[in-house]
This record gives sequence, structure tokens and C-alpha cells, in this order.
Amino acid sequence: MTIAITGATGQLGRLVVEQLLARGVDPFTIVAGGRNEDVLARLAGQGVRSARVDYSDASTLDAALAGVEKVLLISGNETGKRSVQHKAVIDAARRVGASLVYTSAPKATTTSLVLAPEHKATEGLLEGSGLTYTVLRNNWYTENYDDAIRQAASTGSILTGTGDGRIASAPRREFAEAAAAVLLSDEYAGEILELGGDEPWTFDELAATVAAVTGTPVTVDNLPTDAYVAALTAAGVDDGTARFVATLDADIADGALAGSDGTLARIIGRPTTPLEQYVAELLGR
Ligand SMILES: NC(=O)c1ccc[n+]([C@@H]2O[C@H](COP(=O)([O-])OP(=O)(O)OC[C@H]3O[C@@H](n4cnc5c(N)ncnc54)[C@H](OP(=O)(O)O)[C@@H]3O)[C@@H](O)[C@H]2O)c1
Repeated sequence: MTIAITGATGQLGRLVVEQLLARGVDPFTIVAGGRNEDVLARLAGQGVRSARVDYSDASTLDAALAGVEKVLLISGNETGKRSVQHKAVIDAARRVGASLVYTSAPKATTTSLVLAPEHKATEGLLEGSGLTYTVLRNNWYTENYDDAIRQAASTGSILTGTGDGRIASAPRREFAEAAAAVLLSDEYAGEILELGGDEPWTFDELAATVAAVTGTPVTVDNLPTDAYVAALTAAGVDDGTARFVATLDADIADGALAGSDGTLARIIGRPTTPLEQYVAELLGR
């Protein structure tokens, strides 16, 4: 079986390639697609077949997917353009009769999460495509909070607009492991999998965790949306980005990332990494 991975040049995609190789997959049956030529060359150095893939150029998709039976469509990072880009990959997969695995967002079809509409649109395209597919509704990568954790450790304070909202994050590597496991099995065909860490956490708990790991107190400035936007712009963040970040945090405060049903742990065959272990490793403690 030949497996193609779009976004293989990105952080998640590179880890999926690593996970497939770690599971003994023949490198020649992995097509790693992306645009970044330096990373494509590094992937080729691992023995896999690297392929230039540009979602806006169907010819690159047809060339990359020739002879492929499964496609992992890793959602793109160009917000606003993604529905059209993902449709191009779905159409190319249909032309070669491949099945498809797509990385989506938590509760994509029902959530108010500001990032969800393009994922909902892509899931709708998949539903109407006639393809065999699996949806991986990935919760947040814990890595999204690396800077916040380091800042909490160095300054003793942490800024957020997430209120009491819980975040069912897990390290990117664990989502990559799940993607590899799903690609190598037929068990998940037709499933929509909500994937997240076993123990969703709040920012108060994150602060307490950093304090426990470092041995110094950490306070949380938990701001309402307008005050959070003002604090971010005062710190030099442009207005559009500040509003986007604050809106995401308001969604989290409303519970958009709180759900976790143990599916990720079940697929990877062990509990997800606890927050305290993640923080200790990040801070080298
Ligand atoms: N769950 C979360 O916490 C979270 C956080 C951030 C993002 N995400 C989503 O998850 C995806 C994977 O995460 P990541 O950390 O691996 O992101 P990333 O490092 O930014 O990787 C994005 C990948 O998408 C590829 N890509 C983007 N636009 C493309 C286009 N027009 N044509 C072809 N390839 C294109 C990039 O290829 P090149 O670099 O080669 O151009 C890269 O390989 C993101 O793209 C985003 O949709 C999830």
C-alpha cells in the first residue's frame, strides 16, 4: 500500500512520516508532499518519496497521488483559502480512487470555534465525495503553549482570555502517532474521531503546574475579551491578530476545547502525556 501525506514538510507531517517509518513501513511506499524544497530534500534523505505538492496546482497533486491508495490530508495553514485547497486534494484523491484521512478541528460541524468553518466545509466535501474517509478532529497541540509556559517560568505571570475553559491538548507527536495508526488500519474507515489529551486543563492549572515544576509562584491574569485585546495590542501585537487570539480564547472559555473521551489514548495504546511531565520536559527540570 502506498500512502501520501500532504503537509509532510510541516511539523505534524514530519512526525507522521517518522511514525510510519518507526512502524516498519517501507520508505518507498511513503509519498511526502509539500512545497518547502529544503524540507522535501531532508525527507528524501530519509528514503521516502518526496513530491512537490501545491494545493493551488492540481498537476502537482495528480503527480504526487499517482498509484497512491491512502492520502493523509493535513489541513493547510493559509486560513481563508483552505476550503478550496482541501477540495483540490479531495478531487485528486477521487481521481485515483484513494481513501483519505483528514485532520480537522474539535466538534467541527457544531462548534462555534472561530477556526472551525473551513474544517466543517472540508468535512462536508468529504461527505459528498463518495470517498472512504476518516476524520481526525485534533484538539490543540500542547506545543501551542510553549511560549506561555516559558514566560510563566521566567516572569511568574501568565496572560490569557480562556477563563475557566479547559483545553484537551496533547503533544503533536501523539496526534502524529494516531494519524500513523489510522493510516495503517482499515478499522477506522468512516469514523469521525475526536482526539485530545486525557486530562483537559485550565490556565489556573497550567500556572499551578509551572509553579510546581519550577518551585516559584505563578499568577494568572485572566482577562475578558476586550481587555485581553487591549493588553495584546499594548504588547505590540497587531490589532487583527490580537482580536483573533482573543476570540479563540473566548471560544476556549466557552468550552470549545474541553472535550476528551480517551480516543487518542486508545489509538496510541497508552495514556497521553500528563501536563506536568510535558512542562517539566520543556523546562528541562
Ligand atoms: N491542533 C492545533 O493545535 C493546530 C495548531 C496549528 C495548526 N493546526 C492545523 O494543523 C495543520 C498541521 O499543523 P503543523 O503544526 O504541522 O503546521 P505547519 O508546520 O504550519 O505545516 C503546515 C503544512 O501545510 C503545508 N501547506 C500549507 N499551504 C499549502 C499549500 N498551499 N500547498 C501545499 N502545502 C501547503 C505546508 O507546506 P510548506 O511549508 O512546504 O509550504 C506545511 O507542510 C496546520 O496546517 C493547521 O491546519 C492545528
